[in-house]
Amino acid sequence: MIEAREGVIEYLEIEGQKTLEGVVEISGAKNSALPDMAATLLTDEQVILENVPYLLDVSTMKSLLKHIGIDILELDRGVFAFMPGKPDSLEAPYELVSKMRASILVLGPMLARFRQAKVALPGGCSIGTRPVDLHLQALEKMGAKITVEHGYIQAVAPEGLKGAYIHFPKITVTGTENILMAASLAEGETVIKNAAREPEVVDLAMMLKKMGALIEGEGTDTIVIKGVKKLKGTVHRIIPDRIEAGTFAVLSALTGGKIVLKNYPFGYLTFVNQVLEKIGATVVPVGENQAVIKTEGNLRPVDIETKEYPFFPTDLQAQFMTLLSVVDGSSRIRENIFENRFMHVPELKRLGADIHVEGRDAFIKGVKKLTGAQVKATDLRASAAMVIAGLIAEGTTRIYDIYHLDRGYENIDSKLRLLGAKISRGIEEIN
Ligand code: EPZ
Repeated sequence: MIEAREGVIEYLEIEGQKTLEGVVEISGAKNSALPDMAATLLTDEQVILENVPYLLDVSTMKSLLKHIGIDILELDRGVFAFMPGKPDSLEAPYELVSKMRASILVLGPMLARFRQAKVALPGGCSIGTRPVDLHLQALEKMGAKITVEHGYIQAVAPEGLKGAYIHFPKITVTGTENILMAASLAEGETVIKNAAREPEVVDLAMMLKKMGALIEGEGTDTIVIKGVKKLKGTVHRIIPDRIEAGTFAVLSALTGGKIVLKNYPFGYLTFVNQVLEKIGATVVPVGENQAVIKTEGNLRPVDIETKEYPFFPTDLQAQFMTLLSVVDGSSRIRENIFENRFMHVPELKRLGADIHVEGRDAFIKGVKKLTGAQVKATDLRASAAMVIAGLIAEGTTRIYDIYHLDRGYENIDSKLRLLGAKISRGIEEIN
């Protein structure tokens, strides 16, 4: 990957409408790797994580853990040993947190294990203000004293965290994960009501239970955790990335269904598979944990609403918008989770899509084809939507601001080149 340097910008260039066929391997889930790595702070024993994806966000989390005193050793491809050292610092500095909001995930474990933490307040990002008020309110209920000043969250729990009854007014994935980790070492019982049910939350709970945590109800809206004195090391394998899998399923549906998806997590994509079926793209299991997408005749328009798991994930909204932009007829997508997650609409319109936004709704009129243009990636998942658009558009597409892409998709260019895509990276001097 060409590092962004002063005075140059990096872009991805795609020649559209190439035949794409072959096998693509779905990597470990970014949104599992991040909380699972944060959980290594909860023990003074070694933890080994397998199937860790090579992503910018994962390397940011590694730098953050090293900064706090965890030694990290790469044992094999995707296999990392996390060895607790003496904590050099109990601070998650701004320069790291500003790169990745999920750094907030070290707050709960640090408080639980070291009884203090200083974490830069994550800024907003392009998809919304992304506050962390629910994380802080929950930790205060567990006895933490929290002040927020000069852009930092200062938290202390001199007597250690105490179990509490936490009812989240809004479902929050990383909020649930932060409390799950904090409660595992708190004194007494914690109940999390209106908990997030995402597979990544369940995966974190599985890892914590292997470390000795006493957790019940993960995957439902009520999780009960009985705190223990100490957690031990473990070996844990990160689950496949359901969002990457859904992204490649959309690509295959748009390019004749000649792509075999390896490690396709069927169980995490039930609702998404149903939507694909309604569109006319059936996800067919082949062999062990593999899938192909069968399309018969023309694809059909649908209405989609994003909701918390197990319903349609907001992280696949942009990718499905690209798909529906070339499906004859009218479709509608409602974004219920984030207040500003339609920035890819103007970019898709530059490629010829016919979409208009009214509040939380995007109305899509299918067009015959998209045509190549210069566009930019606006957020992590929208960047993948632009890549898909470039792969099906007539002519050449250049996508700028592609650091978003490298944050969340492991080696996506090489995976696509292996399928026959004509895709390359370039840099442009900024005069
Ligand atoms: C997680 O973000 C994911 N990130 C996001 O994926 C994903 O889009 C999101 O969940 C929703 O599924 C990780 O898991 C690392 P939330 P998170 O807290 O936890 C509001 C990607 O592309 N809220 O569930 O930050 C919030 O503003 C990323 O990989 C509060 O108001 O999302 C949002 O409207 C993008 N106060 C809603 O709740 C809080 O304290 C859901 O947010 C916390 C959240």
